[in-house]
Amino acid sequence: MIFLPRRLPLLLSLNLRASSFEGSFLCPSAASFSTDIIGDTPILVRDFIHSALYHPNHGYFSKRPGSVGMLDKSIKFNQLQGRNAYLRHLGNLYKQNDIAWFTPVELFKPWYAHGIAEAILRTADLSVPLKIYEIGGGSGTCAKCIMDYMMLNAPAKVYNNMTYVSVEISPSLARKQLETLGEVSSHSSRFRVECRDAANRSGWGDVDRQQCWVIMLEVLDNLPHDLIYSENQVSPWMEVWLEKQRDSILYDMENITRVTISNTNLAGFFPRRWSLGLTYIDLSCNNLGGRVTVSLTHLPDLKFLIVSYNLIEGTLPRELWGSALAKNSISGPILESVYAIPSLIHLDLSHNLFNGSVPKSLLEMNLHVSELYKPLHDPLISCCVKILDMDKEDSSLGSRAISAAKRIWSKVFPHPRRVWLPTGCLQLMEVLHWALPKMSLIASDFSYLPDVRISGERAPLVSTKNDGRSVDYKSYLDAKGDADIFFPTDFWLLERIDHHCSGLLNRQLEASSSKKVKQRRTIVLDTASFMEEFGLPSKTRTKDGYNPLLDDFKNTKFYISVPTHNTK
Ligand SMILES: C[S@@+](CC[C@H](N)C(=O)[O-])C[C@H]1O[C@@H](n2cnc3c(N)ncnc32)[C@H](O)[C@@H]1O
Repeated sequence: MIFLPRRLPLLLSLNLRASSFEGSFLCPSAASFSTDIIGDTPILVRDFIHSALYHPNHGYFSKRPGSVGMLDKSIKFNQLQGRNAYLRHLGNLYKQNDIAWFTPVELFKPWYAHGIAEAILRTADLSVPLKIYEIGGGSGTCAKCIMDYMMLNAPAKVYNNMTYVSVEISPSLARKQLETLGEVSSHSSRFRVECRDAANRSGWGDVDRQQCWVIMLEVLDNLPHDLIYSENQVSPWMEVWLEKQRDSILYDMENITRVTISNTNLAGFFPRRWSLGLTYIDLSCNNLGGRVTVSLTHLPDLKFLIVSYNLIEGTLPRELWGSALAKNSISGPILESVYAIPSLIHLDLSHNLFNGSVPKSLLEMNLHVSELYKPLHDPLISCCVKILDMDKEDSSLGSRAISAAKRIWSKVFPHPRRVWLPTGCLQLMEVLHWALPKMSLIASDFSYLPDVRISGERAPLVSTKNDGRSVDYKSYLDAKGDADIFFPTDFWLLERIDHHCSGLLNRQLEASSSKKVKQRRTIVLDTASFMEEFGLPSKTRTKDGYNPLLDDFKNTKFYISVPTHNTK
């Protein structure tokens, strides 16, 4: 079996897998922090994610200094018998350290960072002083191990003249890095930490035109992303914003399976969130306004939705159409506390003449966050869509025929689409290429994440620890600063973004075929190939040949991008 790591304690994630995920998702009832993040006006998804992770008081990385773990000493892989011994050893380490996870640079120290140092030594122009920037250096292990390697293996002048600048957004991790580097006194004078957001251009001051290296390990996965949505296969993409809404109590009643509230004068907006167990909803012949939202398509067992004769705007998801007649009646006042009957499984309030109180108590309760769709307007989102070529319409005869067929298909079988866009990465790369125009880049990250439950292309894992166990959230909106939100990296897209930001893509489009354009050489290697090329894989091998770095980290890759400086 290939074990694909996710950012979780290894043994716990194996246990979760063995016992399946049924019933193990945490669904916080009151997303108070989420609603705090959003003020009275809607915000973009990336701003929500940024606050949930990096808010100085409530963000995940600020609240959990142990979110990036540090091992006291290196693991002696050569002394372990094999996989079982390694997993036992790791289990003990997680028990001893109250931390969320160990990243590869930590688990495989110093060998992982030494591989990176060797890659730099073999590629860098050593006639100029070596300058390394690390973005998001965590506990400082990578920086220390790279400086150790340069001190011991590079020509003396390389170490003597080198500078290492760490740009770290978390104040607690910035302090930790200083501590780690302080262990070797000669490193201290060559190392400095700048505690700031690397994606914020103003923090970089003037443009640094020296050749330099930028290292980013497991940083791209935590950068804010945006979400775009399209109603079906041919509808235009819309950007997703988040706004505060009031919860429907129909969401809080966990056992309810059927709701019939027809012919009742019910007014207000069509509810946006629903109890997941619903199989039947009849809200026909009322005065409900607003839109029937896609949240209905997330109800796995819904068979009937009857909302005719209301003031609802837009169209219904076609697969939810059904019909049923409500003829029950109920008299007397409706209790405000009807929602507090936890065992209620069928609510039928049809054919009544309610006035005033019922609509409020039934359809509007707690504050929660919900999605709002707007036409594409945000520059970062639009730029990402352009880089991905999602805005292109092929006008050739063949593709016009395909488009027509698609339009018909989308009417018959509409399929809403959701795509996550690495706008945080785009912003960071734009700033890096501006501030460090001669940078070479080494980044490593997850190319794929297992067990993702959130919908959409490139969707994130939202994961927290609850009583020592790792728990996945089923909605990114439930992250309240207590959960890590991390995304898989699409390395093909990363390369396009890198080339776009370095100007290469634009110049290639503009340049005539005879003109020479400035090139960047980029290469994507899986972790095993990178380590076999630049590292010492024998150091992370156990006695029976099992090598966790090469055998387990199959879902992580290295991205290397180097300017060729060969054009005039
Ligand atoms: C998952 S940790 C990885 C730490 C370390 N590179 C490692 O591999 O162990 C992500 C790191 O990136 C930092 N970070 C995230 N966004 C950042 C930004 N915009 N600017 C600077 N640091 C950032 C976090 O504070 C954290 O130190």
